[in-house]
Amino acid sequence: MALLEINDLCVRFQTNDGEVGAVNHVSLRVDPGETLGVVGESGSGKSQLSFAIMGLLARNGRASGSVRFDGQEILNAPPRLLNRIRAEKIAMIFQDPMTSLNPYMRVADQMAEVLTLHKGMSRREAVAESVRMLDAVRIPDAKGRVRLYPHEFSGGMRQRVMIAMALLCRPQLLIADEPTTALDVTVQAQIMRLLADLQREFGMAMILITHDLGVVAGSCERVAVMYGGRIRESGPVGPLFHDPAHPYTQGLLAAIPRIDHDDEELAAIPGAPPNMTRPPPGCAFEPRCPYRRDECAASDPALDPFAEARARACFAPLADLRAHRETVHLAEDEAIMPVAAFAGASPSTLDKP
Ligand SMILES: Nc1ncnc2c1ncn2[C@@H]1O[C@H](COP(=O)(O)OP(=O)(O)OP(=O)(O)O)[C@@H](O)[C@H]1O
Ligand SMILES: [Mg+2]
Repeated sequence: MALLEINDLCVRFQTNDGEVGAVNHVSLRVDPGETLGVVGESGSGKSQLSFAIMGLLARNGRASGSVRFDGQEILNAPPRLLNRIRAEKIAMIFQDPMTSLNPYMRVADQMAEVLTLHKGMSRREAVAESVRMLDAVRIPDAKGRVRLYPHEFSGGMRQRVMIAMALLCRPQLLIADEPTTALDVTVQAQIMRLLADLQREFGMAMILITHDLGVVAGSCERVAVMYGGRIRESGPVGPLFHDPAHPYTQGLLAAIPRIDHDDEELAAIPGAPPNMTRPPPGCAFEPRCPYRRDECAASDPALDPFAEARARACFAPLADLRAHRETVHLAEDEAIMPVAAFAGASPSTLDKP
């Protein structure tokens, strides 16, 4: 059985400008112990998807559809059930550690409070367990540092404290929302490695949310690519990277920095994300798509399976996408990685004046 099973999830916000469709008919599953990457540009609905799972939407937001955790429906569940699930089964970490740490409490106090409350531990047991967890996230001198306040840690170390806090109750699922974007590249790599190690140690599943397809390459088994609140392509990481089946995925891949490409060759996807208050009737990516055809502006393609464990929502023939794929070497001793020749080189952009 899937650990998490989402069906036809929609998130709508009421605003003065009208209704915002932030998440549109998303279905996905996460199996126990598995890592799913959720990728997409800013505003594509990644965070609202996870807030809906956790029951943490803003007051003007409403979710519909179904989210089952371990077989139990948790979407719009009563607060008591959600509190228990959030504390003990599903944990979430954020880009900014101070979202989940209290600046006015010593780390020992805030960690121990979680364990006394949810695990019925004595204060003494709880502090000892907190130190063990700080050790697990490789904080040197955990026993001494547990007495510090969050601001007394460096950025990367604070990120580790937040991760330790999230793992205290041994969740079965960790949702990591851009956990490393605020950090410099070396620390980013350390945190990603730490998350992968912890995931194995604790046997938990993970949803890794990022705007950077490069980050999922090393850490995820499957990816869902979101655009305009919908999943546009999903599949196992290897096949999706080697044979992207949606123009947007091609565009994201072309935007990953590569060793053998000069920076100016990096192809940012031209154009801007859709306005979610007045979404276009057709495919939301159509205005930016180099493969667009007449039907794309008229109707939104469904996410259809097309190969083993893969699905895509696009009217353009796969052969067209494959024809415009270009192979690039990542580094001398690394595997060959195909990348889309995105900006300007594809059929319909060439046709335009
Ligand atoms: N409370 C709200 N009221 C109205 N619209 C909202 C609200 N919260 C989020 N949105 C809108 O929902 C859409 C999806 O937002 P979301 O935060 O999920 O994006 P994201 O993919 O996480 O982006 P980022 O990479 O910048 O974090 C955006 O268009 C955003 O403006
Ligand atoms: Mg976000």
